Amino acid sequence: MTTSSVASAAPSAHPVGGFEWSENLLTGDARMDHTHQEFAHQLNTLLATPVADQLPVYQAFLNHTVAHFAQEDRWMQATGFTASNCHTDQHAMVLETMQAVVAHYQKGELDIINRMGEALAEWFAQHAMSMDAGLAQHLQSVGFDSATETWANPKSVPNLTVSGCGSARSS
Ligand SMILES: [Fe+2]
Ligand SMILES: [Fe+2]
Repeated sequence: MTTSSVASAAPSAHPVGGFEWSENLLTGDARMDHTHQEFAHQLNTLLATPVADQLPVYQAFLNHTVAHFAQEDRWMQATGFTASNCHTDQHAMVLETMQAVVAHYQKGELDIINRMGEALAEWFAQHAMSMDAGLAQHLQSVGFDSATETWANPKSVPNLTVSGCGSARSS
């Protein structure tokens, strides 16, 4: 099968679903939720893009995801999480997989971006409702304001070490 026939056959041969945003995904942290809504919007844009045109859309989505995860990792480190905790480790694993997809696509495996997008849609819902919701609760409980990345009361900065997942629910 040639590259062009893969591209033209893909929409019917490989139907893709969009990602449906739901209020259940809200974590209660306004900045985190805003970033998550952007993530969902970009994922839907990607899945609605014809396969042959997906690479630049995917790269923009990947850049957004790098910043999204870096933001949460930064908040974790600021509030007592160890550098290697399971939430940060999961971000790193997802980014590594997302980055590997680019080379596969460039070698002609054109349906791989849709497959990655579908996997991310499933993964993200679980992640947002467990690890991200847990992080949002943690930030609130220690008095860290994610909008300004400062402490509500600098005198009350807790001396914490969080090395687990910090999840509201286990995933
Ligand atoms: Fe997140
Ligand atoms: Fe996260």
